Amino acid sequence: MLHGILHYAHYLLENSIEKNETVIDATCGNGNDTLFLSKVVGENGRVIAFDIQQEAIRSTKQKLVENNRENVDLILDSHANLKKHLPSEEILLGGAVFNLGYLPKGNKSVITKGTSTITAIDTILKYLKRGGLIVIVIYHGHEGGKEEKEAVIKHVMRLNQRWYHVLQYGFINQKNNPPFIIAIQKR
Ligand SMILES: C[S@@+](CC[C@H](N)C(=O)[O-])C[C@H]1O[C@@H](n2cnc3c(N)ncnc32)[C@H](O)[C@@H]1O
Repeated sequence: MLHGILHYAHYLLENSIEKNETVIDATCGNGNDTLFLSKVVGENGRVIAFDIQQEAIRSTKQKLVENNRENVDLILDSHANLKKHLPSEEILLGGAVFNLGYLPKGNKSVITKGTSTITAIDTILKYLKRGGLIVIVIYHGHEGGKEEKEAVIKHVMRLNQRWYHVLQYGFINQKNNPPFIIAIQKR
């Protein structure tokens, strides 16, 4: 069976993240991935979740409270500044997820951008465990989406294959710029 995009993103994450690990949600939005990761790492694990919009942090917090999840640090800051929010220099991250684009039902002009996304990817790669994954769901149909998609692809295509596997997964016969996945595994 072929997994749909969001289903496959979760499948990759739950098969590479272990209980009790610390993981990153780089774009928490309405909190769907944050909640998912919070369950995957379990109550002794930690999710560090970022968004630049107060509205997204509020929405994610509400979702976590409704589900009695207490293992998440919600950070109102750009994922480009991720390093300063890590608990220590020695931290080993179990995995990370990005959902690029704008907040669903929110302000469509606030979007993720290539430069900050790439800075965050490179920071996470430094702290990622061996075998760990960064899963990036790339939405690119909105204004500014194509530029970010091209910048991210150009960057990850150049990651040295000795150290990283880089996968692209998507449906090529769908209309209207369907989202696709880039998954980076540290070898
Ligand atoms: C597609 S949404 C994420 C959806 C989310 N995963 C969910 O389950 O609802 C993208 C989010 O990225 C946020 N964002 C944009 N630029 C950002 C940045 N530099 N750092 C962190 N978040 C950012 C937006 O505010 C928006 O909420």
